[in-house]
Amino acid sequence: MAKAGNVLFVSASAAPATSRSAALAERLIGAWQAADPTLRVTRRALDAASMPHLDGELLAGFGGAATPAAARSDALIAELEAADTLVIAVPLYNFSVPSTLKAWIDHIARAGRTFRYTETGPVGLLTGKRAVIVSARGGVYSQGPAAGLDFALPWLRAVLGFVGITEVEVVTAEGLAMGEAAAKAGLARAEAAVDALAA
Ligand SMILES: Cc1cc2nc3c(=O)[nH]c(=O)nc-3n(C[C@H](O)[C@H](O)[C@H](O)COP(=O)(O)O)c2cc1C
Repeated sequence: MAKAGNVLFVSASAAPATSRSAALAERLIGAWQAADPTLRVTRRALDAASMPHLDGELLAGFGGAATPAAARSDALIAELEAADTLVIAVPLYNFSVPSTLKAWIDHIARAGRTFRYTETGPVGLLTGKRAVIVSARGGVYSQGPAAGLDFALPWLRAVLGFVGITEVEVVTAEGLAMGEAAAKAGLARAEAAVDALAA
């Protein structure tokens, strides 16, 4: 995935200053920028203040009312539509995604805009884009007793596919809370995966 086009970088850590998922995503974007200095990158760091949950006002907006929440959804969808490549940095929180990322998805998954219902089922409208998900987690989910308990990545893949983004690469940094050696090894593996993606 050497050519990235316009990049939208969505980061969801509640601790952005020390976020390992964000640092890994920045490593990838930095490599793309080194190869193509004209690359345009839009950064959307999600936090509770700027990314409210789905509420009645947003639902009214989905129904056609001109609400501030609908305007927020319009702006987030426009940002995503303008991107060729979506990069999502996502911590695993309580076996799932941070609620801010769920709220972002709730704003961009919109009938008639990013998907539509047909007689044969839903069709995603955001076609022709690629996504990279960079996920950091304290434990290990690729194997062992917690395998199957990562509900973040399967859900994220499903919902991106639902809006038409089916070309998805995943980089996972795991074991980050399992002692210094495991954390170092987990990060090194993730860095190597990022570098391979950028090459
Ligand atoms: C509130 C909270 C919940 C967490 N839940 C999990 C979890 O369910 N499984 C896990 O492996 N790690 C869990 N962790 C550890 C984080 O996934 C890990 O610290 C990761 O590096 C956070 O991503 P970031 O560095 O990008 O902020 C949790 C951390 C926090 C702060």
